[in-house]
Amino acid sequence: MSNRVRVIAPLNESDERTLADDVLDGLTRPFKELSPKHFYDEVGGELFDQICDLPEYYPTRAERSILEADGASIVVASGMAELIELGSGTADKTMILLDQAAAAGMLKRYVPFDVTEAMVRRCCQICGGRFSESEIIGVVGDFERHLAYIPPPIEGEARVVALLGGTIGNFVPGTRRQLLRAISALLRPGIDHLLLGTDLVKDPAIIEAAYNDSAGVTAAFNRNVLNVINRGLDADFDVEAFEHVAFYDRSHEWIEMRLRASRAMHVKINAISLGIDFASGEELRTEISAKFTPERLADDLAAAGLTLEQTWTDSEGRFALSLSSPAA
Ligand code: SAH
Ligand code: AVI
Repeated sequence: MSNRVRVIAPLNESDERTLADDVLDGLTRPFKELSPKHFYDEVGGELFDQICDLPEYYPTRAERSILEADGASIVVASGMAELIELGSGTADKTMILLDQAAAAGMLKRYVPFDVTEAMVRRCCQICGGRFSESEIIGVVGDFERHLAYIPPPIEGEARVVALLGGTIGNFVPGTRRQLLRAISALLRPGIDHLLLGTDLVKDPAIIEAAYNDSAGVTAAFNRNVLNVINRGLDADFDVEAFEHVAFYDRSHEWIEMRLRASRAMHVKINAISLGIDFASGEELRTEISAKFTPERLADDLAAAGLTLEQTWTDSEGRFALSLSSPAA
């Protein structure tokens, strides 16, 4: 790769410790829990891509339709010269924005940032060829810990930090606000913006169907986190002995995904010398996916020192993209 196209990879052997620490913390809690960031090994990334194409999983299509209809307005309103995308994945939908910014001669730099190295490298390769006038700097890292590896902003050029797909909903409220605050610190008042994708509160039946698809892809994605632990930490989870559970918690207005032990089990996690018992029917929480009202969005942004400037929604009001800026 040329210097115009490069990858920064601060992750090293301490990475395995992150998985180890998270698993030790999560599985010794009174209610067992795992962080959704560990879903995304190569297989998990591919399963997520399949989820995005499922008839029941509306968020990707809804967000894409907003980008197709309003991408040009978003580029103009933000002055997008630099786009930093947290949790970029395949950056499939992002191409709509990048194409618009590049066609307008505005795109100086794109920074795809993801915890999965293969995805970042692939994205840099594709974007390096497609946007020959722009700098492409991939960052392989955890956006809860490694934001400092993002290069400093380009003097006098507008920066946009994007968190798309509804990924902000995968954080519980307090952590969500901490993350928004950390992102806000990357933004200069008066010039930079946050572009945030949020899935909206709607008929619970539609939401529940999106996380209980008839082809069983979400179930495979959910269970895959146990494969990640088996491989990464020399554990012996019987993956098929866990059932996929996803339900809409109406009081919190979020989806909860869990894995339910279909029988009593003792699991050994050798790399951390941990033995864990599961009772028959015991559940392990693997993800929440919060849905937003306009009030929840405005409150979370305000708590992070961000002012909501503009919101775009799809024609069915399922998903929102919002542009906000840091207070001076
Ligand atoms: N933005 C894409 C992908 C969403 S899936 C879309 O809208 O379709 C969530 C992505 O965030 C995955 O690619 C996953 O690897 C990444 N991710 C999850 N937690 C992360 C973390 N803590 N740090 C960096 N990337 C993370
Ligand atoms: C990445 N994230 C926004 C997805 C979501 O909908 O919360 C992950 C996902 N989980 C199950 N299906 C998709």
